[in-house]
Amino acid sequence: MSYKKLTPEEAAALIENDENIGLSGFTAAGVPKATTRALAARAEALHAEGKPFKVNIFSGASTSASTDGALAAANAIGHRTPYQSSPDLRKRINSEDVQYYDMHLSHTAMYMRYGHIPSVKTAIIEVADITDDGEVVLTMGVGNTPTYCKMAERIIVELNTHFPKELKGMHDIYMPEDLPNRQPIPLLSPSHRIGTATLKIDPAKVVGIVETNEPNGIGAFKPSDAVTDTIGKNVAAFLSSEFKKGHIPSSFLPIQSGVGNIANAVLGALGHDKSIPAFQMYTEVIQDSVIKLMDEGRCSLAAGCSLTVSDEMLEKMLQNIEFYKQHVILRPQEISNNPEIVRRLGLICINTAIEVDVFGNVNSTHFYGRQMMNGIGGSGDFARNGFLTIFTCPSIAKKGAISSIVPMVSHHDHTEHDVDIIVTEQGIADLRGKSPRERAEEIIEKCAHPDYKQLLRDYVALTPGYHTPCCVAKAFEMHEKFLETGDMHNASFKA
Ligand code: COA
Repeated sequence: MSYKKLTPEEAAALIENDENIGLSGFTAAGVPKATTRALAARAEALHAEGKPFKVNIFSGASTSASTDGALAAANAIGHRTPYQSSPDLRKRINSEDVQYYDMHLSHTAMYMRYGHIPSVKTAIIEVADITDDGEVVLTMGVGNTPTYCKMAERIIVELNTHFPKELKGMHDIYMPEDLPNRQPIPLLSPSHRIGTATLKIDPAKVVGIVETNEPNGIGAFKPSDAVTDTIGKNVAAFLSSEFKKGHIPSSFLPIQSGVGNIANAVLGALGHDKSIPAFQMYTEVIQDSVIKLMDEGRCSLAAGCSLTVSDEMLEKMLQNIEFYKQHVILRPQEISNNPEIVRRLGLICINTAIEVDVFGNVNSTHFYGRQMMNGIGGSGDFARNGFLTIFTCPSIAKKGAISSIVPMVSHHDHTEHDVDIIVTEQGIADLRGKSPRERAEEIIEKCAHPDYKQLLRDYVALTPGYHTPCCVAKAFEMHEKFLETGDMHNASFKA
């Protein structure tokens, strides 16, 4: 191989203060590890000398402890987009050390190519293999890698030998043509391959190769609990009933499922419910639960933009890589989350809310309207365009001091127009074909926790005789009482 070899420290030394950096991967899957860690150490050393050093990070989505975690701990991030889930970075965002802009994940690549957001100077990418003429086999996450490599002036390559070259064949790399002559994306089913197995990058941009051998460091999920299990069963019961009524075609429809513990429980329940046929996933993140369903014959194919499985699961998959290459397809997030494809394939979209209001508006991102949790991720790409859009959440948070069902969401991510079904452990609210007052009754009676039902009924009763029973003066009373007293129960809507 003719590329120059670099140590992580030599690679990190190339980066300047305030530089825009594009990272490969999506979640901890496929993100570079050693160079970003060395960059954090460099930032700390420069800060100790009283010198400023921050970089602006563009990623696929969240990253890992060795990237967002290390850089945030070193206070080395200036701007950040489009998604994160690192506790250290979240603190920096909420104290305004980091300027974070939260974007739909299908937007980032196109926005960068057309100058809506700044371009990257350097791409740092993790690969399983690279040839002298720039044919790259990516690892477990594609994310925005094709666009970052296209836009960057230079590319630092981390060749991670933990991931075998035999991954070649799992990826399907496709970039839409430039506007205004873009053609329809020719993908006709989740299993349809439309691109190339490798990503072609300009070898002249490669400034060096950093050799590593490191797993993604993804642990197993927390075991599900009674609440997440019940939510999962409710989703499965709803889909089974829709299927029996003929609202879903007999071959079923592809499923998109969000991230986290509830999503895992939902998939587990769908797998166990044999009244639902084996299904395909057309999703963003492929988690352990999907691979388990595949092994059990319940999921026939999973297409996404990252294989975010635990290190343990990945080891198992690597033992049988030829099988999984037939059943797992990794694409750029511009394609996995593409609104036109989501609508055309008729996805059943299941994502998690932080809070839902009585009219069906959903907040996926903020606490009390002002604190960022993670970001909207792909939830908006899917929710707006899905065939059926389901949001799940526990009915209460913080040991019952917070109701997840509120008079008005403190931050709007998905409007009532994009939300069909709400599921909590209390039940299933079907919002389709209902007016705002009917939706309020459905959500309160089916999904709110019994401790909060009367409070929410009292709120809705404040505004009789209007299309939408919203009382502007009292809409955030429950949030205010939580912030003042630590408990939403202290709100009152009695006249
Ligand atoms: N007000 C304040 N805090 C709340 C709350 C509310 N209404 N509802 C939940 N919380 C808190 C919980 O108490 C918990 O905090 P704690 O651990 O300090 O007690 C936290 O929020 C939830 O944490 P977690 O268990 O990690 O949530 P999760 O794994 O179920 O994820 C989301 C839920 C919404 C954060 C996550 O799904 C997300 O980021 N969604 C947006 C992106 C997305 O949907 N991506 C997928 C698209 S493909």
